[in-house]
Amino acid sequence: MIKSVVEAYSRLAKRDLRILRIIEAGHRRYEFVPQKLVERWARYRKEEVRDSVKRLHYLGLLRRNLSPYLGWKITAAGYDVLALHTLRIRKKVAKLSPTPVGVGKESVVYAGESPSGFKVAVKFHRGGVSVFRYEEAFSAKVRRYQHLRQVYETRLSALAEFYALEKVFEAGGLVPEPLAYNRHVVVMRFIDGVELYRLDSGDLEQVVQDLLETLHVALRLGIVHGDLSPFNVIVSNRTYVIDWPQWIPLGHPSAETYLRRDVSNIAEYFRERGVEFPGDELLKAAKGGNDSGRRFLEYLKKSLL
Ligand SMILES: Nc1ncnc2c1ncn2[C@@H]1O[C@H](COP(=O)(O)OP(=O)(O)O)[C@@H](O)[C@H]1O
Ligand SMILES: [Mg+2]
Repeated sequence: MIKSVVEAYSRLAKRDLRILRIIEAGHRRYEFVPQKLVERWARYRKEEVRDSVKRLHYLGLLRRNLSPYLGWKITAAGYDVLALHTLRIRKKVAKLSPTPVGVGKESVVYAGESPSGFKVAVKFHRGGVSVFRYEEAFSAKVRRYQHLRQVYETRLSALAEFYALEKVFEAGGLVPEPLAYNRHVVVMRFIDGVELYRLDSGDLEQVVQDLLETLHVALRLGIVHGDLSPFNVIVSNRTYVIDWPQWIPLGHPSAETYLRRDVSNIAEYFRERGVEFPGDELLKAAKGGNDSGRRFLEYLKKSLL
């Protein structure tokens, strides 16, 4: 069995990657893309195509279906490889750690290196859907391509996260700088630090100040994090908020509920350590709401496939 996306990727030849791309394109019409069509579309000899799909299957990048016809379906690992390949070609990622640095509920995160040598975090989304994501643009697509539902969901997660990171970062919030995304994968600056829940010393007052700053910036943009907790905060020389795919636009009917939960999660952490977290300020700042949700949906329509 293959241990990691890096290992699988390293075993592929150019032809294998081309065949994988062809199958990906075929998924627009087929859940299992017929072997016969792959052979026709690929301009290789039949034996070469068979050799490639055999290897892709062996590496866990394809699932096989035998009846009523021989066909292939790309696995989550297969999409990982495709995204990694694109990000390498586009010179966004040069190297990737052989094992993940973080495995969350909804993603696998690897440390990597950019071509110019700085450290990046490469986040492979595995799913998870927020209330907000199931609106218009998206639900129509999902209905049309039922068999690609999971693929769309993971891509939507990545897009939503990239969008929030970009907006909050540009406005001066303390989040990892977003560098690129492709398919269901987001590349961002690596924050060398320790998650807040593991922090055992340090200036908590400064941590509170940094968090307030970032959360205020986000709220001004109409962005509610939606999964804020000591697990999604990394303390380095400054304090960064990570993990944004499930953000909710202010103005969404559930936004206030999520904001209250975010604030109380984080306030509890500080209360237990005898430090005040002025959550009310944030709740007050959130009054009004804006049209961040609509703007994001427009962005989605342009960006999603
Ligand atoms: N930019 C980053 N820099 C350093 N580590 C990161 C970064 N992004 C994520 N991680 C690590 O990966 C873990 C999972 O990432 P996260 O974005 O929280 O996704 P999940 O939704 O799976 O929790 C984090 O808890 C953290 O340890
Ligand atoms: Mg997390």
